[in-house]
Amino acid sequence: MHFSAIERVPGDPILGLMEAYANDSNQHKFDLGVGVFKDAQGLTPIPAAVKLAEQRLLDTQQSKSYVGGHGDPDFGRLIAELVLGSDSSVLASKRAGASQTPGGTGALRLAAEFIAHCLPGRGIWLSDPTWPIHETIFAGAGLKVSHYPYVGTDNRLNVSAMLTTLESVPKGDVVLLHACCHNPTGFDLAQDDWRAVLEVVRRRELLPLIDFAYQGFGDGLEEDAWAVRLFASELPELLITSSCSKNFGLYRDRTGALLVCSHEAEKLQDVRSQLALLARNLWSTPPDHGAAVVAQILGDAALKQLWVEEVEAMRQRIAQLRVGLVEALAPHGLSDRFAHIATQRGMFSYTGLSPEQVKQLRERHSVYMVGTGRANIAGADATRLGALAAAIADVCR
Ligand code: LMR
Repeated sequence: MHFSAIERVPGDPILGLMEAYANDSNQHKFDLGVGVFKDAQGLTPIPAAVKLAEQRLLDTQQSKSYVGGHGDPDFGRLIAELVLGSDSSVLASKRAGASQTPGGTGALRLAAEFIAHCLPGRGIWLSDPTWPIHETIFAGAGLKVSHYPYVGTDNRLNVSAMLTTLESVPKGDVVLLHACCHNPTGFDLAQDDWRAVLEVVRRRELLPLIDFAYQGFGDGLEEDAWAVRLFASELPELLITSSCSKNFGLYRDRTGALLVCSHEAEKLQDVRSQLALLARNLWSTPPDHGAAVVAQILGDAALKQLWVEEVEAMRQRIAQLRVGLVEALAPHGLSDRFAHIATQRGMFSYTGLSPEQVKQLRERHSVYMVGTGRANIAGADATRLGALAAAIADVCR
């Protein structure tokens, strides 16, 4: 038999939680696993702006012929403006371009292939901890993966350890940075920290790859782009992966982009020719629907305004859930221990709960979160924060 030596591997530690949660018959279960936003009804909503854009597409779209290797040019232009700013000098001088990809994960995969094929010998440095799929994507492309410290066992951001390690990174290596809403910890760099990282990157001649999967979920759509725009304006070369999964609610439509900033417009075209070739071998041409929706929204002032308001409402709900959970933990004497939940950013919180406590939460209370203690706060039910806090208190006893 050809397949007889093939062994079964464990399921994905994050996506596997969706199935486990769905199969749990407890009416009072909590889904804090995979990173999806949930509204007051416990649904992951389709934003109204997306629904309107989809209706327009349905009414007006003339063809479903292939989009090109870089995807829809309107999407590329508009997403680049969203990320880099409509007043970006890098865009004005045609030194930046976006390639449409199947989600932010597709953008990471394309970046990994680009580094492996076009920048041979460069290693990549990831934060410790990071999103587990970062580890496997870059290793899968054959890159040497190393780590810089980020959040330690004390569950605190350690910027000085991060900077010290970056100082010793071999010249030319790639360093992956999370633009905002760090996944999995929720601990973000302050502006001064970003400036310090920029100096090391410049001194060591590193190539930053900024993962920007949560634009709008931290401090706001423009605010969250601060570090990306700083790096784009200060450095000659930069890679950015952007995702429309969360902020447009387009998770399953797989919509994202890889943005490249180059020191000159001509070189950008050389790089983009390589990206199109690599993408051809990965997925040929990217899926259209989600990107067409995004282009409709960002290209229409009224739809864009509606979407901006919807993203802001999602952001505020997450912020309120964070504060509400810490308040609900207060009667249990745990508000100090978990105070970081209110100050972390984005969907996720590294709670500081141990793998054993996570297991107990699941077995005793049907609370689902990633084994590392990462909780998707954006999945919590605001009306049941008291019950969630009581469950956490139970496993902390
Ligand atoms: C997460 O980390 O939960 C999200 O980014 C979803 C995913 O694909 O893992």
